[in-house]
Amino acid sequence: MSKRFYITTAIDYVNGQPHLGHAYEKIIADVLTRARRSLGQEVFFLTGLDEHGQKVQQAAQADQKDPQTYCDGLAADWQAFAKKLELTHDDFVRTTQPRHRACVQAVLSRLNDAGHFYKAGYTGFYSAKEETFLTEKDRRPDGTFDPSYGQVVELKEDNYYFKLGAHQQWLIDTIEGNPDFITPSYRRNEVLGFLKNNTLEDLCISRPASRLNWGIPLPFDPDFVTYVWFDALVNYVSIAAAHGDPTIAAAFGDLNFKTQNPPLELWPADIHVIGKDILKFHGVYWPIMLKAMGLPLPKQILVHGWWQKDGAKISKSTGNVVDPMAVIEEWGLDAFRFYVLRELDIGPDGNWTDAGFRARYQAELANGLGNLVNRSLSMLQRYRNGVVPARSNELEADAARAAEETRALLQQSRLQAALQSIWSLVNRANQYVDQTAPFKLAKDPAQAQRLEEVLYNLAEACRVLAVLLWPFLPGTAGKIYAQLGLEGAPDQWGAATWGGLQPGRTIGAPAPLFPRKDV
Ligand code: ME8
Ligand code: MG
Repeated sequence: MSKRFYITTAIDYVNGQPHLGHAYEKIIADVLTRARRSLGQEVFFLTGLDEHGQKVQQAAQADQKDPQTYCDGLAADWQAFAKKLELTHDDFVRTTQPRHRACVQAVLSRLNDAGHFYKAGYTGFYSAKEETFLTEKDRRPDGTFDPSYGQVVELKEDNYYFKLGAHQQWLIDTIEGNPDFITPSYRRNEVLGFLKNNTLEDLCISRPASRLNWGIPLPFDPDFVTYVWFDALVNYVSIAAAHGDPTIAAAFGDLNFKTQNPPLELWPADIHVIGKDILKFHGVYWPIMLKAMGLPLPKQILVHGWWQKDGAKISKSTGNVVDPMAVIEEWGLDAFRFYVLRELDIGPDGNWTDAGFRARYQAELANGLGNLVNRSLSMLQRYRNGVVPARSNELEADAARAAEETRALLQQSRLQAALQSIWSLVNRANQYVDQTAPFKLAKDPAQAQRLEEVLYNLAEACRVLAVLLWPFLPGTAGKIYAQLGLEGAPDQWGAATWGGLQPGRTIGAPAPLFPRKDV
């Protein structure tokens, strides 16, 4: 058994419908997964739902449902959404599943036995909305708490705490010694700045069951349930354990449930894809939890920025939202996948505008890629009855350069730059049509051979593009292959080598990939 490349996303709170931010993150992870599979790696892609905690309990109450029924209903919507995005995940975790609960309890027992926890009283302020305790430091100059915390109440209660302080210097050294551990680098610097300028407070890992019962009971004290973040983070290892991962089995022994066959070697994760708002949980708490468990750290935390719409925060209450389903319905899935990855690099914040979306659709998809494929294949049909002429290598170097550059960028998870690299070939091929003017060559019988060279180069460039595009735009890539009369999917990077299109074979019928829309 060899270790799989293991990619995860954040698991979304199941307290509403998926939105643009959720879709964006899952598409990033899907493109990374497809790219590595195309390049010949075995990948395991995990996504799923975070179902416990106060937010979900309150949402269920508001809906007059018991929490499990509420979660089951929404989980079906979220799984349908994953399908709509054509995610190629290997498993879908729900934190209410027995396989996950068993692992969380095993982690808690182990850390408790090893002396990482203590019980203590607490009096202070609590935000149910953010499920977090607040201190005097969190007050604004006027004495109030930020409205994002919702209603803040004063609490007096016992809880269990996880001793974090002892690991602070170790964590600083670990992050400094592993420059790629938190990417991009300005996010790493944020975490380092926080760790160097603050003393880590111990993490409260329980909630009294009398106040919040929608959670996993502490195995050593049934009066408490597990803090939702402690529960949620463990999903990355609980699902590896459920697949029989040997590293986790060695650390935990029998978890009391049947693991899936065949066993897979997954841990440590290679990439955790997350948004910037949950970096502290992944960059501070999670590494310390893993160290306490005796497990190796993930290789990388890849942190993306947040989307706004029209320069303002996305918010259901103000109605400033982008409904991914509606966009996909109107423009197609690939146009949506393309826009979010081409518009926004992984790191900074982005801004969705409908005008920007339409502009990219028109320029890059319809007039760029779509037009190239449509005119290349239409001319081959018209001038040579769709029969592929003899091989010619005029665009070979351009195609090879784009393929090599794209491959390197994909391996660095630089998806926006990879799309730019692919479009360098789209633009080069469109320019080649304009320069060689095959519609003029076709009128001159003396140019018959030159015309065939041009037609071969164009058709073959389209075929190579299908392979490069596959991780990003799987539907479109598949259509290009089908229109070229090729069988199977363009899902193996090796097929990007020039000359794969066999002379003498007949292509299929061209059809517009991205119909122009009058708006
Ligand atoms: O935080 N733009 O769940 P969540 C980009 N359950 N990304 C966004 C976004 C936006 N406008 N809004 C949200 C949670 N996200 C926890 C995670 S992981 C063990 C537990 C991203 O549903 C956000 O940054 O609030 C996060 O990565 C993901 O969506 C889920 O957010
Ligand atoms: Mg959130």
